[in-house]
This record gives sequence, C-alpha cells and structure tokens, in this order.
Amino acid sequence: MIEVLQGDITTLSVDAIVNAANNSLLGGGGVDGAIHRAAGPQLLEACRALNGCATGDAKITPGFRLPARYVIHTVGPVWHGGGQGEPALLESCYRRSFELALQNNIRTIAFPGISTGVYGYPKGQAAEIAVRLLREFESRFERVIACCFSREDAARYENLLSA
Ligand code: AR6
Repeated sequence: MIEVLQGDITTLSVDAIVNAANNSLLGGGGVDGAIHRAAGPQLLEACRALNGCATGDAKITPGFRLPARYVIHTVGPVWHGGGQGEPALLESCYRRSFELALQNNIRTIAFPGISTGVYGYPKGQAAEIAVRLLREFESRFERVIACCFSREDAARYENLLSA
C-alpha cells in the first residue's frame, strides 16, 4: 500500500525518511534544512564523511534525533526544461533510495517530492515519476509513504494513485 500523508516528514516514525539534498550533502533549505534541524548537528558530521553525492544517486546516514532510524539523502536534478536528462535522473533518485533501503533492511520509508521545491521540477511530472517508482517497489516494503507538504501536493498524488 502506498500512503499519501500531508505534513512535515521530520515527524514521521518510520525506518527511513528520504532527504532532497544537494551534491555537497552539507545541508540547505527546504526539506533538507528541516531534516538537519530536527536531526541535530551529528547529521552534518555524518554527511561530511560521505564526500558528497552525485545527482541521481543516494547515500544513507543514521537519523540521530529524528524519530526515523535512517536518513537516505538523494540529490534530485535541477529542472532545466526537461531536455537535460531530468526525468531519468529523478527516476534514479527513487530507485537508488529504494535499493539502499533494501540493503539496510528498511521496511518503512517516506519520500518528499524530490526536486519539486527549489530545484523547480514541474510538480505534476515529478509526481508521475514518483508514483511509478513507488508502485514498482511497494511490494518489498511494509509502508511506502509519499509525504507532501501541502494539501494540493497530496491531492496530486491521490489523483495519480486512484487512476
Ligand atoms: N516535509 C515534507 N516536505 C517538505 C518539507 C518538510 N518538512 N519541507 C519542504 N518540503 P526542496 P528540492 C517539500 O526545495 O527541490 C535544499 O536547499 C517542498 O514543498 O526542499 O529537491 C537542498 O539543500 C517540495 O515539494 O528540495 C538543495 O539545495 C519538496 O519538499 C535543494 O533545496 C522539495 O523541495 C533541493 O531542492
């Protein structure tokens, strides 16, 4: 079952939450900033040791002060109009995050809308990719959650999932 939740991903008691990070993995705004604030300074220390992350790839750390046991940091593409491989890179973010989750025996996982904030990916197109990948992997997890910040974003996922 794919669940759509509206709210702050940092409050979720799941095995792993996914972070929409940048190549440095050293924090930023948006969901990344919220995760670092809630996890505490140890998260930044752990991220420093990872030497960054390529766009479309993912890396894992503990969740420290978060209710989530792990944070999976993935780096979505910046939207440049769609002709620079953005769809394949966004798909890869979800795939690599799920693969890391499986390698770490994670059974419950929550995703934000990767690339749909500062990185400017059109929300409808991003949600279509997200839903396709959540469906591909859902049977291998107990809970797969799409965590949306706004009611409007949650409705977009609900619509795609009911289609
Ligand atoms: N819980 C769930 N979703 C959230 C939260 C939250 N607490 N906060 C924001 N969102 P963004 P990006 C949603 O900009 O586009 C950072 O500076 C938000 O509504 O966080 O991948 C990084 O360091 C949006 O739908 O990530 C990078 O530099 C979604 O999360 C850059 O931003 C993603 O928005 C990454 O940009």
